[in-house]
Amino acid sequence: MALINLEDVSKLYGFGDATTLALDEVSLSINKGEFVAIMGPSGCGKSTLLNIMGLLDRPTHGSYKLSNRLVERLSPSRAAKLRRDTIGFIFQSYNLLPRLTVLENVALPLAYKGYSLTRRLELASSMLERVGMQNREYFYPSQLSGGQIQCAAIARALVNDPTIIIADEPTGNLDSNGSRLVMELLSEIHKMGNTVIFVTHNPELTRYATRVVYMHDGLVVQDETSDLGQVAKTARRNLYSVPRKSVEDDLAGVSLLMKVMPEDDKKDELAEEKPKSKRRKRGTTIRRRS
Ligand SMILES: Nc1ncnc2c1ncn2[C@@H]1O[C@H](COP(=O)(O)OP(=O)(O)OP(=O)(O)O)[C@@H](O)[C@H]1O
Ligand SMILES: [Mg+2]
Repeated sequence: MALINLEDVSKLYGFGDATTLALDEVSLSINKGEFVAIMGPSGCGKSTLLNIMGLLDRPTHGSYKLSNRLVERLSPSRAAKLRRDTIGFIFQSYNLLPRLTVLENVALPLAYKGYSLTRRLELASSMLERVGMQNREYFYPSQLSGGQIQCAAIARALVNDPTIIIADEPTGNLDSNGSRLVMELLSEIHKMGNTVIFVTHNPELTRYATRVVYMHDGLVVQDETSDLGQVAKTARRNLYSVPRKSVEDDLAGVSLLMKVMPEDDKKDELAEEKPKSKRRKRGTTIRRRS
């Protein structure tokens, strides 16, 4: 049984001449335990799709079943309750409150649960320990690195014990170390049985995913399963159709463990290591893999 089931979901923004069709009859099923990467050009509808799956927004048309329950027309308060109990959100901009400590930020989502303050802080503290941030509990967000802030944001997303983690470009503002930290953490959360759905523009990060969904102009244009540790096939093709920087840039945010190269990639990497002058003569055109 699918955990998330969208059927012919469309989303329109605006009115009249200014209407945007952000999602165009998207059908998508996601099972429990999948680690799904969503890719596609800017404006193709990735965030709109995540917001609908995460009950932050409603579709204009179509149906959405979450754990086999129709949810697309829930009242805002019911949607908010279901969201708090089942879904943890991580955004590109970290959304931590600057005047609260890391510990207080992580404890925030527990406020409505009726726990005492001490219990809330205890739970938040154990969650920070899980993400390796126990020694930063009394820091303020401004005193942390981007990667650490994002880890705190992940702890906050997890504190209510959601089964689905939705992350919209969680590494978008991070350097390669921060990205790796965040992706390893999401990987661990996935290994514990959670369903993780994340948006990325970096093809290398599909190494962490078990499935990659590609979008274009509000449509799902491709959907492929992907082996952990390897760049998804279509993502790899896209990777080679854009100007390459360096292998290091491409691998930003990918841990050593994830750098399992298939034979083809090994060849590419070896080619990358040769000095440029030996690889091609001046004036010759570079042929990219299509
Ligand atoms: N609140 C809104 N009002 C009007 N149009 C919107 C709104 N939110 C999104 N859109 C439009 O819907 C389309 C899809 O936007 P969306 O944010 O889902 O794209 P995206 O794939 O997440 O892009 P990016 O990679 O830049 O984050 C875009 O054309 C955008 O301008
Ligand atoms: Mg977006």
